[in-house]
Formats: sequence, C-alpha cells, structure tokens
Amino acid sequence: MKILLLGSGGREHALAWKIAQSAKCSKLFIAPGNAGTAEVGENIAIGVNEFDRLKEFTIKEKVDMVVVGPEDPLVNGIYDAFKEDARIATIPVIGPSKAGAVLEGSKDFAKAFMKRHGIPTAAYETFDGTTIEEGMRFLETLKAPYVLKADGLAAGKGVLILPTLEEAKHELREMLGGMFGNASAKVVIEEFLSGIECSVFVLTDGSHYQILPEAKDYKRIGEHDTGLNTGGMGSVTPVPFATKEWMKKVEDRIIRPTVEGLKAENIDYKGFIFFGLINVEGEPMVIEYNCRMGDPETESVMLRLKSDLVDLFEGVAEGNLNDRKVEFDNRSAVCVMLVSGGYPEKYAKGYPITGIENVTDSVVFHSGTALKDGNIVTAGGRVIAVSSYGNNKEEALSKSFDAAQKIDFKDKYFRRDIGQDL
Ligand code: AMP
Ligand code: GLY
Repeated sequence: MKILLLGSGGREHALAWKIAQSAKCSKLFIAPGNAGTAEVGENIAIGVNEFDRLKEFTIKEKVDMVVVGPEDPLVNGIYDAFKEDARIATIPVIGPSKAGAVLEGSKDFAKAFMKRHGIPTAAYETFDGTTIEEGMRFLETLKAPYVLKADGLAAGKGVLILPTLEEAKHELREMLGGMFGNASAKVVIEEFLSGIECSVFVLTDGSHYQILPEAKDYKRIGEHDTGLNTGGMGSVTPVPFATKEWMKKVEDRIIRPTVEGLKAENIDYKGFIFFGLINVEGEPMVIEYNCRMGDPETESVMLRLKSDLVDLFEGVAEGNLNDRKVEFDNRSAVCVMLVSGGYPEKYAKGYPITGIENVTDSVVFHSGTALKDGNIVTAGGRVIAVSSYGNNKEEALSKSFDAAQKIDFKDKYFRRDIGQDL
C-alpha cells in the first residue's frame, strides 16, 4: 500500500516511523515532512492545506491511503475534499470529516456535544459580543480561578486561566473584542477543575473503537510546571493513575458515549480522537477533545503500540476495526523535547544540530528540523523529541536525558523534571 502522511512535526515523524515498520506499507510519502521523516519515507514539498495539490499527487502516484497528522487540514475539511472528488472518493483519509473535526475546532460545540450526551466535563456557558454583560454576571457566580476559552483554534494559546474576577472580566472583554481574531468571537467560560491531566487516545471507524496507550504531557516551559505554555515539553506512558478501574470509567462514561454520540448525530468520523482528561478525585472529566493524536504524546505512545498501525488504519477504512488486534508493549516509554532557547517566545532558527549519530539507546524524532546544505539544522521552537523505552519510567527517562546531553545545538533547552510528578 502507498501511504501519504500529512504534517511536519515530531508527531508525524513518530507516525511515519511506525507506519514504515508495517509490511503493508510499500511506499511512504510525507507532505511536507522534516529532516527526520526523510529517513523513513520520501518528503513531498506540498503544504498540508494545499488540497488541490495533494489530490493531484494522490492521483498521479496512485496513493492508497492518506493519514492526517495535524488538526488544521481536518478542520479545513480535507476528508470531505477527497470524498467529494469522484476521482479519489474511495481513497481512505484517516481523520474525521469537517463536521467531526469541529469537536476540536469549536470549544462551544464540544461542550454542547458533551452536555447532550451526558459526558462529564466542567460546567460552562458561552458568550459572544452581544452577551458581554451576561458573561460578566456568569463570572460573578464562579469561584477563582476563572477559565476563559476562545471558541475557535488559536494555535494552542486560546485558554486563559485568571486568578481574580477583575482580570477575568478584563480578559473576557479583550477576547470578545478580537484578541484572537475570529477565534474568540465566542468565548466559553467554565468552572475550574483541579487534578492531574492525562491524554487518552482512540482510533475509531465510526462504529467501533480501539483504545491506544494513554500518556501524560508536560505543557509548561519551566520545570515544576512554571512559565508559559508550550506545544509540549515531554510525555510519559503509561500513566500510573490510569489504572484498569479508572480506564473503565473513562471508557464507559467518556469514550463510548462520544463514539455513539458522533454516530447518533450522523457525524462522519474515521480517525483518532484525543481525549484531554483531568482526574478529579478519582473521577475522569473531559477538558478538551482533539481530532488528531497529541504531540509530544505520539512520540512515546507509538513506542508502546506493538500492533501494526497500518492494519489498524485499514480497519478504520473498512469499518471492521473491532476485528483488528491492539497490543501494548508493557514497558514504559518517555519523550523529552529539546527546544530552541527563547521558545515559546522569540527564538532563532538555522543552528546546526550535532551528535544525533551518538544516540544508540533512544529513538530520535525530529520535530522542528530542516536540511540545509546536507546538514540538519534547527527550524522550529520544538526541535528534537528523544524517546526511550525502559523497564520503568525512571530507566526510560535516564536514557532520554542521556541522549539529550549527546545531541547539541546552540541555546538548546529541555526540562529535566519530565515524569517526576507521577
Ligand atoms: P485546552 O487548550 O483546552 O487544552 O486548555 C489548555 C490547558 O488549560 C489544559 O491543558 C488545562 O491545563 C487547562 N484547563 C483547561 N480547562 C480547564 C479547566 N476547566 N480547569 C482547569 N484547567 C483547565
Ligand atoms: N500535547 C497536547 C496536544 O497535542 O495538543
């Protein structure tokens, strides 16, 4: 099978690494990919939102399956664009339809969906420019801290958590006034939940689902969860509090009602669902849905997936995912992200990366890298994800930290406390 994978981050390198191991994959293209994906497949210089060019490429190269990494093309409707084109309507696209991607693309939709289906999540209300005063009054009924969420995609920056009512009121006005452009034309205000977060992933064919290994990611730039939010500084799987009993609650109260709810609402959904959960005194609640895998969770989760990922994708495409086998590796897996100094604010690009060849006991996934005159250089805030196995979390972490020292580029930074809160 010829597979076209869309995206260019660490998540996509990890997916490409796993797909390339499948006997069912005869050729892997990545559009646009990065210096790492070029080692396991062939990079194609087409952007993830260039639907016409992606369609032409699919036809010309006789691609058999398209796998979508990031949310952007899904929210923009790549699934529908293929389905509505008679020339490629039968080529499976792994990822939800535009209507399904709204689970991630609109927080207001996601909250209303959970309410309709009785899925546990924080109490909330949604406001727009015509209901600012109602929003102010709703804030007054809540306790600090206050959680404000831009309804639409805001590059991961659309959630504000504010310690005082005064700041919350000020920021609500700013958001509705266009702080995140159209993405904050509507704002969800919700109750603050206190607990530890956990990312749970499933693949669904629209009727059946398979649960993948869960993971915890580390979002803040500073150690002990301080400083600004990032795309993610590391991840760990398994998550100790995600016991069999806890995962049963997640499946019964959250996963099954979500998949059944999508089906009942005639939403075409064939792909990954990422449940951003929080453990509130032993009870799982949903913080957010994403319509894709997590980054950097994928960089550890793929290490623990023993099954053939392409076989699972085939199950998604054929609607018989229930007949496919999902097996986990019992070892721990972790990922430590090496980032550019200054990230997530201003940082430089183009610095040569050295030492990757000295890493023998970890898997090195490229996140933001490029090839310049045959050399690998930094090309993003998150640069390299160093993933490792271990008989336990500590062993895996010590391998990743070891490798993190061997790989070098100017102003390299990484968190040395990944996994230490668990
Ligand atoms: P999101 O973009 O929805 O993932 O939100 C970003 C982060 O904000 C989450 O990962 C949580 O750490 C935090 N967050 C979001 N909603 C809540 C909530 N209701 N209570 C506490 N923390 C939250
Ligand atoms: N690691 C969180 C995300 O991918 O959104």
